[in-house]
Amino acid sequence: MADGEFHSGEDLGQALDITRAAVWKRLQCLAALDIAIETSRTRGYRLVGGLDLLDRERILSSLSMPASELVGNFLCLAEVQSTNTLLLQSGGHGDVCMAERQTAGRGRRGRQWFSPYGRNLYLTVRWHFHQGVAGLEGLSLAVGVVLAEVLDQLGIAGVELKWPNDLLCAGKKLGGILIEVGGDLTGECVVVIGIGMNVHMSAVLAEGDERINQPWADLHQLGFSGSRNNLSGAILSALLPALQDFSQMGFAAYRERWETRCAFMRRPITLILPAGSCEGILLGVDHQGALRVLTEDGERIFSGGEISLRGGV
Ligand code: BTN
Repeated sequence: MADGEFHSGEDLGQALDITRAAVWKRLQCLAALDIAIETSRTRGYRLVGGLDLLDRERILSSLSMPASELVGNFLCLAEVQSTNTLLLQSGGHGDVCMAERQTAGRGRRGRQWFSPYGRNLYLTVRWHFHQGVAGLEGLSLAVGVVLAEVLDQLGIAGVELKWPNDLLCAGKKLGGILIEVGGDLTGECVVVIGIGMNVHMSAVLAEGDERINQPWADLHQLGFSGSRNNLSGAILSALLPALQDFSQMGFAAYRERWETRCAFMRRPITLILPAGSCEGILLGVDHQGALRVLTEDGERIFSGGEISLRGGV
């Protein structure tokens, strides 16, 4: 039914070797996944707008040469609790996990990441770093740069990066990055780089729906009509070599590229800190990706996962 055309209950039953009543029951399951179904007495059933399902082989065959040499096991699942959790628990260097849906998708600072079926990207890469976590401060910023540049190449201009890990478009959240670390934090450590990107969220969620408590945007609203498979292939093609470069050269190559896309650059911001808040003017980031802010007391540097940034004071 992914083609979005009408299919009769009888045809579907025959294709699946089940009764028409069983077809109907399965369609109710799809409705529970927020997939809109139109029913016609004469023509049968159709998925409104069709569904662009992930296709592991298509993604793999679209990878650039450097990426195809770096990719490890590639899991493409219908459902998972969280692609990050799965690859934190087990896997090898370069493994990738994508899923159509996450039942316990996670965002930064313990937040939930709303992950409806078949519409967005939920993608995690597992990468082993030898130098411990100290050098990883700028990793989520570097990944943000890679994603924004890929979107640029696909014709989605104007994506901004909000420190430390948000992709924004016109001030609305388009995606986020969640980096989590396991293993030996001072040496050989396992890092999972999780990316959530809204591709066609608007097919399942109306603006103002309380399942997401901040303004959001999706690629579809920005004119993207390509397939999630091409998008995933383009992201992995750029991301895997970038992770390799980052392991060797750190954040330096990304600093300027990040700052040119920095949301609220040289504008007033408020930082929400574990204890209280701090206001100032955003100056950019330092060589490791820590935030530079001009406050009443002069320039201050902020780093760490428990800080969140808002535009304005
Ligand atoms: C944020 O902005 O708070 C980060 C969101 C990261 C969401 C992605 S979706 C794929 C991966 N799996 C998860 O459970 N979270 C990340």
